[in-house]
Amino acid sequence: MTAENSQTIYLKDYQAPAYLVDHVALEFDLHPTATRVRSTVKFRPNPNSSSSEFFLHGENLTLLSAYINGAAVTPVITEAGLSCTVPDGPFIWQSEVEINPSANTELSGLYMSNGMFCTQCEAEGFRRITYYPDRPDVMAPFDVTIHSDLPYALSNGEPMRDEGQTRRWQDPWPKPAYLFALVAGEFQVVSDHFTTASGKPVDLNIYVRDGDQDKCAFALEALKASMAWDERVYGREYDLSVFNIVAVDDFNMGAMENKGLNIFNSSAVLASPETTVDGNFERIEAIIAHEYFHNWTGNRITCRDWFQLCLKEGLTVFRDQQFSADMRGAEVRRIEDVAALRGRQFREDSGPLAHPVRPESFVEINNFYTATVYEKGAELIRMLKLLVGDAAYKKALDLYFARHDGQACTIEDWLAVFTDVTGQDLSQFKLWYSQAGTPIVTVRDHFADGTYELTLTQVTPPTPGQPNKQPLVIPVALGLLYPDGTEALDTQLLVLTEAEQSFRFSGLHAAPIPSLLRGFSAPVIMQRETRQAEHLVQLTHDPDLFNRFEASRELGKSALLAMLQTEAAPDDAYCGALLQVMINEDLDPAFRAMCCALPGQDEIARALAEQGQTPDPVAIDAAVHQLSEHLARQGLEALQALYHAHQLTGPFSPDAASCGARALSALALRLISHVDGGALAAKQFARADTMTLQLPALGNLNRHGQGTEAVAQFYQQWRHERLVIDKWFSLQVTTCPANKAVAVARDLLKHPDFNLKNPNRFRALIGALAMTPAAFHQADGSAYNLVADQLIALDDINPQLCARMTTVFETWRRYDGARQALMRAALSRLAAKPNLSRDTKEMVTRLLD
Ligand code: PHE
Ligand code: ZN
Repeated sequence: MTAENSQTIYLKDYQAPAYLVDHVALEFDLHPTATRVRSTVKFRPNPNSSSSEFFLHGENLTLLSAYINGAAVTPVITEAGLSCTVPDGPFIWQSEVEINPSANTELSGLYMSNGMFCTQCEAEGFRRITYYPDRPDVMAPFDVTIHSDLPYALSNGEPMRDEGQTRRWQDPWPKPAYLFALVAGEFQVVSDHFTTASGKPVDLNIYVRDGDQDKCAFALEALKASMAWDERVYGREYDLSVFNIVAVDDFNMGAMENKGLNIFNSSAVLASPETTVDGNFERIEAIIAHEYFHNWTGNRITCRDWFQLCLKEGLTVFRDQQFSADMRGAEVRRIEDVAALRGRQFREDSGPLAHPVRPESFVEINNFYTATVYEKGAELIRMLKLLVGDAAYKKALDLYFARHDGQACTIEDWLAVFTDVTGQDLSQFKLWYSQAGTPIVTVRDHFADGTYELTLTQVTPPTPGQPNKQPLVIPVALGLLYPDGTEALDTQLLVLTEAEQSFRFSGLHAAPIPSLLRGFSAPVIMQRETRQAEHLVQLTHDPDLFNRFEASRELGKSALLAMLQTEAAPDDAYCGALLQVMINEDLDPAFRAMCCALPGQDEIARALAEQGQTPDPVAIDAAVHQLSEHLARQGLEALQALYHAHQLTGPFSPDAASCGARALSALALRLISHVDGGALAAKQFARADTMTLQLPALGNLNRHGQGTEAVAQFYQQWRHERLVIDKWFSLQVTTCPANKAVAVARDLLKHPDFNLKNPNRFRALIGALAMTPAAFHQADGSAYNLVADQLIALDDINPQLCARMTTVFETWRRYDGARQALMRAALSRLAAKPNLSRDTKEMVTRLLD
């Protein structure tokens, strides 16, 4: 690797582009191994730049010819791009390059997937298609001409009249190169229509492989709902006459918001009752919305540079969370979003990969599409809305769209609209964007003479490169309950701005129970000495459902920690309380299912680590198993009744109420299986006519050693459905006994359907193994080695995916010395791989630092 391509890039070094682009015309002669790309770009010197240096990004391109104002030129070419002397004033650049889509296994730039041409340009893939200023602050209208004999050839914007094998697309909206897209192939098209609020008709199309036509209806409905929602809630209308979505099997991420031509990982768009579980439907709905919402937050208003990634991602995640809350119930969705935030972002924020929501430096931007940028970025917007209020939030957003439409913006621009609308000084709030780490808020309280005093202290622990932290603005939504469960104080918003602050509440007739951080009003860790009696009251009485869930989690964690630390017996009071919640018909079944699931194993490991203890993943697995069995025995009859009461009849529907009922019956089945060894699961498996029933039944069978035949039968049934086969791979490693998982994974690596080149399949097997704590952390280090071996093989094929997957090691410092040494050795082996990619190198360096 050359020094040139491993340089660190700093936010503070930002410089405006030397040249702006007024127009781009691209012409493609598509060929699987030799595609020609001709570009005609109208450049003009940027009046806001003092530089006149002309540099175009370009990687893996063969330059065939180049012209400036029609005269041939000979640019200086490096690995990163080209430079050239150019005239003063505006000029026209033309070039022709050749690229090889078939050789592109990185899935960045123009590549082939199942015989179709497909692009991925975010963040810096366009430079692998042609020479261009591949940076988001250079925006231009694109005209695209595609020559190909394939039946479909698509690009961004409006389709022009067809001319046989030449297809033309014009995108009138200036955009950065990362939003460019091209797709060509043989497709089946499923179409629908939408009429915007102002009466403009929009054609909606989903392009899929033959055989997938029947899996598009759900995504189309979600798309229409998203379009209507963005009009209603944010006043944002769609701005082209066509909105196209293409499903591809080989894709590094979930989906991509290319202007007018979203490209989706097929797992994020295809759905049918037979092949898709409820959780997939929810995820698909959210991703469709997310990509659609980017049309305004990301595309019409984009990022000045990649340090501002959270400007589009944090806001768009927040918007998709609001949408899902409206579609499926705010409280239940909030609980899921927070669980995901803690599982991924808190984990990231407490380890060697911690970084600010707006990072200040990077080597490879692809390594910063993280839970911190996305999920914590969304939390910052949620807090901002809470602090300024709904009305001011709406005004600020209207101002943002009016002021910045067509621009490439920064976090400063974003915060300025809030300051301008409210007059509030947000300089302290802005620290949330620059300071990494999860703040820990410690609670002390005191009650005397009818007055309750609450003292909150905030500390943000050191993170890489940031030893000292300043106090943040932390909105804490608080309510008070009396010990009998009645409300002593309705929800109030306390705003912390200092390291320590006290609040007093008088006129109380008994010592209250604080219901802190209602709705999870800030992304912090609340630490308070555990008080089981209080949590039991909250679990049944807190008017804030999030805090009921929280009480359940706290009780669950203390029960498990007691089992692990003092070999205590499973906590009967906790189990009894859970069973009461489970059968409480006043509560939404979806909420009951979430509230009564035991804490996840990684969550328990994190809780131990937060207390300064060393988690043993194998012991945690055993304790969870033991507690599940105890709970199941204690409540067997109730669970059986619950299971049968929540069987649905009639046609399958993925609506929120049906999903909730199925989730609750699935929880009951999972527990019952601990007692009946899988007898009920076998019955469910035999009669299952939907994946939501079939898959968990199979999981329970396998978890209790009854899966062999069913696993084989499942494969025969679904061998032609690749998204189902992904599930089949995952299930076997996640539900077998933890000490067998490596052997199971080794066998599956040899299976003819395993394919290192397909990211979904790689994640389904290797990702699933690494995300199953007791399997991954087997004391002999065999899983670490297996994962490292696969990453070493993957790095040459797909560096982005390899780099991303190294995060499975991010918690290595939590564990005992022996495991640490084994993980360090596995990572060092990867680090020592010849020709390690820049992507992976940056990650292993940060992990081992
Ligand atoms: N911008 C995409 C999204 O959020 C994610 C993505 C990033 C996809 C990079 C591909 C490559 O929604
Ligand atoms: Zn996004």
